[in-house]
Amino acid sequence: MPHPKTDILSGPTPLELAGELSKQLGIDLHIKRDDLAGPSFGGNKSRQLEYYFGEALAQDADTILITGAVQSNFTRTAVAVARARGMRAIVQFEDRVKSPSDRYRHSGNVLLSRLMGAEIEFYPDGEDEAGADAALDARADELRAAGCRPYIIHLSETYPPLGALGYVDAATEILGQRDDFDIFVVASGSGATHAGLLAGLRGGGSQARVIGSCVRRAADLQGPRIERVLKRLGALYPAANDVTAEDVCVWDGALAPGYGQIGDRSLGAIRMMAATEGLFLDPVYTAKSFAAVPSLVESGAIPKASKVCFVHTGGLAALYAYEDQLSKLLDHATG
Ligand SMILES: Cc1ncc(COP(=O)(O)O)c(C=O)c1O
Repeated sequence: MPHPKTDILSGPTPLELAGELSKQLGIDLHIKRDDLAGPSFGGNKSRQLEYYFGEALAQDADTILITGAVQSNFTRTAVAVARARGMRAIVQFEDRVKSPSDRYRHSGNVLLSRLMGAEIEFYPDGEDEAGADAALDARADELRAAGCRPYIIHLSETYPPLGALGYVDAATEILGQRDDFDIFVVASGSGATHAGLLAGLRGGGSQARVIGSCVRRAADLQGPRIERVLKRLGALYPAANDVTAEDVCVWDGALAPGYGQIGDRSLGAIRMMAATEGLFLDPVYTAKSFAAVPSLVESGAIPKASKVCFVHTGGLAALYAYEDQLSKLLDHATG
């Protein structure tokens, strides 16, 4: 039986030729504009939420509970979708980024969530997915006792990866737009996007290589995590069972200095995309994921003339939350 789903995207997102970057890098580069997917400045999480809200609506929930980093795009998008369906949205912020600036705590996604009327709570540990989920479970118990109908969007990988189904759909959508890409490059965090895209491409008959660029943890941890997500996804989408460990490709060359922090390669990626295509990347996810493209072209891992699709997963609302750091880095950048 198909999993319940609700429409959040207004249609397919564009697949655009990045002409200037293609010339500069010597490849045929297209950008899948999932930064335009869904409400409140969009992004990949809109596709994932189609399945979470499908289930929430089927259960007649009236309150959504979700946890994430302070500048989480997932929580901001979930708030937008919930509010537009007349639901309460309770957001739990985790401290994931060291020494956050005042802007990080208040601007960007935080400001947008507050404007939309999110109820904001805090969880002190940013590296304890099970603990953050348990705190949501406890909060949901309180809400039920008060007569509410909560639906929890859990974080830890032990829960079914419903969000990955959104990227199975994205793979189908892309293959309908163009089916001869050699390589995809995408951000790899929780792994729902990476695993869903990979499984969906294989299920749709594409053998393109999918490079997941690590935004949260090093490659030696992220690779096995993707394999585990694929295994769980297999229960929802059987083609995921046919993806082999050799098919899981992760790169962590732009992860330093860590989650939510901007290194040289990320800054270079933001500037390159802005200056050549007039498009923006966010410091937490898409700067780190796009950085894989020029780096791997330079190393030869992406051969010249390859047909490459960069999946732009959004995150732009966080750009202004990083204004202080970015301005300082730009002041000191050469070239
Ligand atoms: C803009 C953006 N890109 C990529 C990701 C990573 O997606 P996933 O968690 O599915 O790996 C996220 C996750 O929050 C995100 O907000």
